[in-house]
Parts: sequence; C-alpha cells; structure tokens
Amino acid sequence: MGDEELEIGALGATRRGDGGAPQLGALAGPFEGRLQFALGCDDARRGVGGVGGSWRDWSEETEQAEHERRSETDEEAAQVESHAQQGSSRRGAAPRTAHGTRRVACSSPPALKIPFSEPSLGAREARAVLRALRTQRIVGNGALGKRCQTNLCALTGSRHALLTPSATAAFELFLHTTSIGPGDEVVIPSFSFVSMANAVVSRGARPVFCDIERDTLGLDPRSVASVLSPRTRLVLAVHYAGMACDMAGLASVCEPRGVPIFEDAAQGIGSTLDGRHLGTLTAAGCLSFHATKNVVAGEGGALLMQDDALLRRAEIAHEKGTNRSAFLRGEVDKYTWVGTGGSYVQSDLLAALLDAQLARTEELNTRRREIWDLYQSGTEAYEARGLVQRCRPRVGCRHNGHIFWFVAESQALADRVIAGLKQRGIGATFHYQALHASPFARESLGSAGQSLPISEHVSDALVRLPLSANLNRRKAERVLAALAQCL
Ligand SMILES: Cc1ncc(COP(=O)(O)O)c(C=O)c1O
Repeated sequence: MGDEELEIGALGATRRGDGGAPQLGALAGPFEGRLQFALGCDDARRGVGGVGGSWRDWSEETEQAEHERRSETDEEAAQVESHAQQGSSRRGAAPRTAHGTRRVACSSPPALKIPFSEPSLGAREARAVLRALRTQRIVGNGALGKRCQTNLCALTGSRHALLTPSATAAFELFLHTTSIGPGDEVVIPSFSFVSMANAVVSRGARPVFCDIERDTLGLDPRSVASVLSPRTRLVLAVHYAGMACDMAGLASVCEPRGVPIFEDAAQGIGSTLDGRHLGTLTAAGCLSFHATKNVVAGEGGALLMQDDALLRRAEIAHEKGTNRSAFLRGEVDKYTWVGTGGSYVQSDLLAALLDAQLARTEELNTRRREIWDLYQSGTEAYEARGLVQRCRPRVGCRHNGHIFWFVAESQALADRVIAGLKQRGIGATFHYQALHASPFARESLGSAGQSLPISEHVSDALVRLPLSANLNRRKAERVLAALAQCL
C-alpha cells in the first residue's frame, strides 16, 4: 500500500457544543491544527515511528537504533517488573516472605538492549484506532466492541465473550454473577497474580491457597483436594505461562463435590488443550490483554462464558447492574437498576486496537513459540547438569509461547543469573511472590503457618527470559550466550 496521510484535525473538526459526541477536532489544538501520521506500509511487523514520524521495521533495527531506544526500554522493563510484583514486596525491600529475602543491586541498572517484554504494534493497529476515532463513538459496548467480542468467540470457540478493562475486572464481573461472599472460600494457587486473590477478598470471601505442579506451575489437584471444605465455592485454575494446567485432575477432584472451576487464562490467548482454547474448558474463564501479554490492548480483558444463563447475569453486572444490554438490543424501552454490578465495560477505542491485534494472534504466537523452542533446546544441558528445572508442557497442550521460564536450583543462582543478564543488557526477571507467604495473607488470612514448598521455591528461584514477538533468532541466541556466562 502507498503512503496514507490522516489528519486527526480532520477526524472530527466540527465542534459540537451540545455535549453529545466527544470533540475530537479539539485534539488538533495542541498540535497547531495539524497532527499527521505517515503510514509508510501495511506490514503488521512494522512498528510505530512516532507521531508524524515514519514506520520502523523492528526486525531490521540496527544496534544504533536500539541504543536510542534504551531509555524507553528501561522504563518499560521497570513497568513490567512492577506489574509482576504487585502485592508483594519489591526486590530488595524488607524480607519478602517467611522463607527468604531478595537481594538487589542498588546502583542504577545498565540500559537494556533486549527488553524483557514489549508489544508488537504497527500500521494495522494504528489504522484501527484512527478508524475508531473517526466514528466518534468510543464508548464501550458499541459496534466495535461487539465485533471484537464476535471475533474473540470465533478465535477461541467460546460461546460468549464480554470485553472488560482487564482480566481482573473479568473475574470480578464473574464473581458478581455468583453469591460468593462472607463465610465462603475460593481455592487459588499461591503462585499467582495478586489481583485475583484481591477480587475474592473484596467480596468478603476467603482465598485458600494451594500448591502447584513442578512441570507446568499449574494448580496441583492433590493440593486442591487437601483444602476443599464444605465452604469451598470455587476453584481458580491458573494456566500459568499459557500452559494448560491439569484440568482432568482438577475436574476429578471438584466435580464430585459440585465445586465449579474458573479458568484464569489471562496469559493463554491462542493456547489450547486437546484442541480446545484455554478459558473455554469450563463454564467461565478470563483472558488478559495487558501490554505484557501476547495480544494487547494496553489494558484489557475478557470474560469467556459457555452458558446462556451466566451470560444474562454477566451482562447486567457488566453494565453497572442495569439491563442496558437488553435495552440496546431493543428488548426493553428503558433501562434501570436490576442487580449488582460495576463499571466493567471496555472502551470501543481499545476494542478496536484489540481487534487488530487479535487478527494477528497466530502470527504473534508463532514468533514467540519459535523463540521459546530455541530457548528450550538451548537450556537442555543445564537441566541435565541439575542447575535448572524447565517446563514440561502437558500432553495435548499447544501453548502460545507466552513465557519462557526455568527454576534455578537455588535462589542465589536465580539472583546471579538475573543480575548477570541485566549487566549484559538483557531483561530477565523473576515472577509472582507466593501469596500465602505475603504480609497481607499471613496477617489477615491466617496463612502464617502454611507451607507450600513448590510455590515457595518457585517464587525464590524462577527466572523468565526475555520473550516477545519482536525478538528474533539472533537476539535470542545472544540471550543464550549471555546465559551460558551466568550459569
Ligand atoms: C495469571 C494472571 N491472572 C490475572 C492477571 C491480571 O491481568 P490484568 O492485568 O489484565 O488484570 C495476570 C496479570 O499479569 C496474570 O498473570
């Protein structure tokens, strides 16, 4: 395609004083009336050069260009790290868990040449966002959001999907459809993201922590069986790193007791188990489109549902406890408050971006899987020497290459590797800190004496190597070469 020039000033230049549609024409103001995007290609592998700039080919990026991006990259890596650690003490702060502390290098870190994570955004995404702006309708649950939901269902095979501002919001939304509350328990892996435990606590229910399996770091059905009680109302199965956890094992423990399973497939876009997409294996599950995921909207998520009655309840909670969705379909002539809910709708502007990214799911995942495979074969020898333990994907799981991880034989070794890679300009990092050992859980949820050895060791000794669709073979080989110097 040839160059395409779009002026934001032209998107909605007429001023509307009646408070109806947003005045996008006003966007041109700070840019003196002319804000231009030069679109030089339609290759989805190309990235945004910046406002008024040109498109840059990430894969052909020179070392010099990388050097210029260093400050941005550092900031991103810091953001990624802080996202990874929410709810747990920062590396190097006060003792992190009852079983160990993190050491931290206090001097300012060297610039990263290979960031831990970065999104792959290009011309397709820019066009989608500009098209959405042109419509002047960027409120949520509009035509673009609906189209994205339909496409998400087609991609995942889900019966229903509702877009949300995050995976956390999708889980909170789901909880609104249940009567889970004070006195109830929800079983969750200790090695998981803090926001999901928070959602449970926010309802007045108690998260009960479980251990994980070594091979996939997914919820261990035996550990679940040991904590099920008459108060258990839900089990949260986290598909860590986009790898399916033991769904058959969990079903055999939960089904006889009538306990439903919610799938946290936040990291699982494009991953399947026996041909079925993660997040669709039970009645409900969620996906995340946070900027660190394979497919991104900056922030975003979705609640996937396989049950029509659940959808009807969720639609109400999605729209602040009202029947607005029914109103929009013309089923009622006005809408009103009919239940509990929240503000769980994603803007159509982000839905447009998400839809453009969803169309690239296979491409993005294929590129990540190539790097994942390269890392897997490049670290085999370390496992043979007992230095690390790596992922063994479950038979029948086709994963999306979201995270490449290994567990070092000790925390000291993991810290050395992470610091050593950082010194060489490579953004490797650890991940969740065991929730049962967190200050909040120990003080407020009664988990002080609990021992979950795999979660504790993995929190201490997990290392994640950089992985993104922008990474090429050459850079991945540099990561492996640097790793060889650190191990
Ligand atoms: C397993 C898991 N669940 C849930 C979340 C929350 O996702 P979001 O940031 O979209 O709320 C994350 C975030 O990284 C995650 O890793």
